Order: sequence, then structure tokens, then C-alpha cells
Amino acid sequence: MAVEQMTGRIARDLEYLKRFTSTPGKGCTRLPFTKEAREAVDFLKKLMEEAGLEVKEDTAGNVFGILYGEDPSLPCVMMGSHYDSVYNGGDYDGIAGIICAIEAARQLQEQGIKPHCSFVVAGFCDEEGMRFGNGYFGSGAMLGHRDLDYCKQFKDKDDISIYDAMKSYGLIPERIEEAKWKEGSIGKFVELHIEQGPVLDAEEIEIGLVDHIVGIQRYMITVEGRSDHAGTTPMDMRKDAVEAATKVISKIPDWAREKADGTVATVGLIHTIPGGVNIVAEKVEFTVDIRSKNNDNINDIANRIRHALERETEEIGGSFNMETKLVITPVELDHEILEIMEEKCKELHYTYKYLPSGAGHDSLEIGQVLPTAMIFVPSKDGRSHCMEEFTKYSDLAKATQVMVGLLTEITRE
Ligand code: GLV
Ligand code: MN
Ligand code: MN
Repeated sequence: MAVEQMTGRIARDLEYLKRFTSTPGKGCTRLPFTKEAREAVDFLKKLMEEAGLEVKEDTAGNVFGILYGEDPSLPCVMMGSHYDSVYNGGDYDGIAGIICAIEAARQLQEQGIKPHCSFVVAGFCDEEGMRFGNGYFGSGAMLGHRDLDYCKQFKDKDDISIYDAMKSYGLIPERIEEAKWKEGSIGKFVELHIEQGPVLDAEEIEIGLVDHIVGIQRYMITVEGRSDHAGTTPMDMRKDAVEAATKVISKIPDWAREKADGTVATVGLIHTIPGGVNIVAEKVEFTVDIRSKNNDNINDIANRIRHALERETEEIGGSFNMETKLVITPVELDHEILEIMEEKCKELHYTYKYLPSGAGHDSLEIGQVLPTAMIFVPSKDGRSHCMEEFTKYSDLAKATQVMVGLLTEITRE
């Protein structure tokens, strides 16, 4: 298989996809159920068709390309990732995994490999949770983990629910549960993704074999006080939501650091309402994202946040609400699949290393219920979730070669 040819096609397709952003020149912003998402999905569908795959879009906004095996009644092998991005993100996070999966499908056919079970390329909708604060919407729907209540529950910053966003995108949220694949119809899931961290690039290693993914909890917290005049309201007569919220927020990094095992906690969004220089804030909204390989650590930090909120809001005579956006436990990836990947790295003479993932992925959702494995490709200087994100096309092609070797074996069963 000519790695140069693979590199060329992966480069061509990813370069084309760069145009589907709402922030041209300022990174990739491709939020779910938007015009850019539609354009990207249409392009993916075209590539899938050209690659000889049968294309299906589901009721959750996911897109699939199917290469039927000799016995399509067998559980399929699925490979893919997500097509959405964060605000002003990079051009590789997620989407590279879909483009490489399409290239893998081309390779299987060009090399005359007829899979026994079907091979399915997946492009998932809304992995990031950027718009509604949750995450893994599409892969969760495929597994039957999303329903109408879920769609109505989560809203974006303009108060548009997933339900409304789906409708204006042309989907029927009442049919969300039809996105669930039949029990037993997916045998294995594999995902190629950029590392988004510095390890492989710094150590000049070509392939990362991911053995586990951290668990994640996400919250949207609202602290309520009372708005008053900033000049006339004495310090002991105000209900300052900022004071209560920031006393809690300032402790969160140390609670994560204390665990000393790689646990991380991030307050990525803070919003004061009404937000004026001379107004005591009535309300503060902030997000928390907590991640660890040890689920007890995540629970502990979430509990500490809850208790601190109780204490600090009582202190100002205010109140709070801690809305759960995402709870997902850490996952061990499938050792058998990883061992085959390792074999393929050896056969192809690529350097490799086992490593964990601190980023969440569709594999985190899917790995809870199906044998799942991931392969990482080096990210330049470890930069990701920013417009500087960069991964060499030739490195993506190498990882795709490893995947083709793996698929040749696991689609034989
Ligand atoms: C997704 O990229 C995440 O880890 O938040
Ligand atoms: Mn991703
Ligand atoms: Mn991401």
C-alpha cells in the first residue's frame, strides 16, 4: 500500500474540510446542528459514496458509510470519530479520524480485501459538548442513551435546546431513539484521533496505543445573589454572587492538584449577570469539568464543590443550582484489539507507545459497552482545542496503515 497516496488523499480531504467553519481565519468552529455541520456532513457523504460505501444519516445527526461484508448479518466493525469542533479549534480533532476511516475503507477495497463482517465508517455529531455543555450526543444516541427528554433538557447559551436546534437542522427529535443500533449489531469500535497532548511529538514516537480514557463530570453552576448599587450598598449588606462563586472557584484547582495522580478540574466559562462595572452581580454562571482515571476523585471534587457552594451561598444569603451536564466513568480499552495494533506497528516498523487519554472521545462513551480501542497520532507541540493544532498528514497515513492491518484481521471474524 502506497503511504504517499494515502497521505495525498487524507491531505486533500482535510484541506477541503477546513472551509466549513463559522470563524474563517480564526480556527475551526463547527458546532452541532449548524450550517457548517451540514456542509461538513454533505462533504463526508460525498466522500463515502465515492469510496463505494452505502451512506446513511440517522435521526441524531450522525452519518455512516457501510462497506458490506460477505455476511452482513454478523456484528460489524466500526471506525470513526466526530465532525464537530470547539470554538476556534483545530482542523484535525475528530474529523481526521473520520477521513482516515474513509481512507481505510478505500484501502480495503483497493487491496482486494473482502471483509467477512461489514465495515462501517462513522461520523458522529456533537462529541465536544461545546454548544450545549454535555458531550457524546451522537455516539450516545447510537447506543440508545439519548431520548426526547434529554434533547429538551440541554440548552445553549442563547437558550436554544438540542430539541429546537435539531428541528431547525431538519431532524425530528421525537425520532431520536431510532438512532439506536440493534443490540449486538456492532461488534467492535476503533477510533483514530490526534493525541492533543505533547508526549508522542516530544518523544518522536509515531503511534500511540491508548489503553484507557479518563472519566469526566461536567456541571453548569448558577450562584444567585441580589443586584444592587456598587457604590451605595455597604459590604455587609450585599448579596454578592461573585463573592460566593469566586470563593468556590478559587479552590477547585487545588482540590484537583491535591490528588497528585493526574486528576484535573477546569472552570472554562464564567458569566456574571447583569455584568456591569457598577452593579453588584445578581447571578454568576460557571462551568466545571473534572477528569480523572479514578472515578472516586471526580466524585470527591464534585462533592466538595457542592458543600462549598452551600457554605458560601449561605454566607451571602443567596442560593445555587448545580446542573449535571455529563457523568461518564473512566474506561479501559480492549486489550485484544490493542495487541493486534501493536503487532501491526511492529510489522510496519513504526515506533509506538501505550498511553492514556486525558481528552474525552466517542470511544469513552462507546467503550462503556463495546470492545473499543484507540490509536493516537502525534500533535505538534501537543497543541489542541486551538487554531495552532497541527498533525502531519503523513503521520495520519501511517496510523491509517496500522488501522487497515487491524481491520483486515478483525473483519475476518
Ligand atoms: C473533548 O475533546 C474533550 O476532551 O473535552
Ligand atoms: Mn476529539
Ligand atoms: Mn476535542
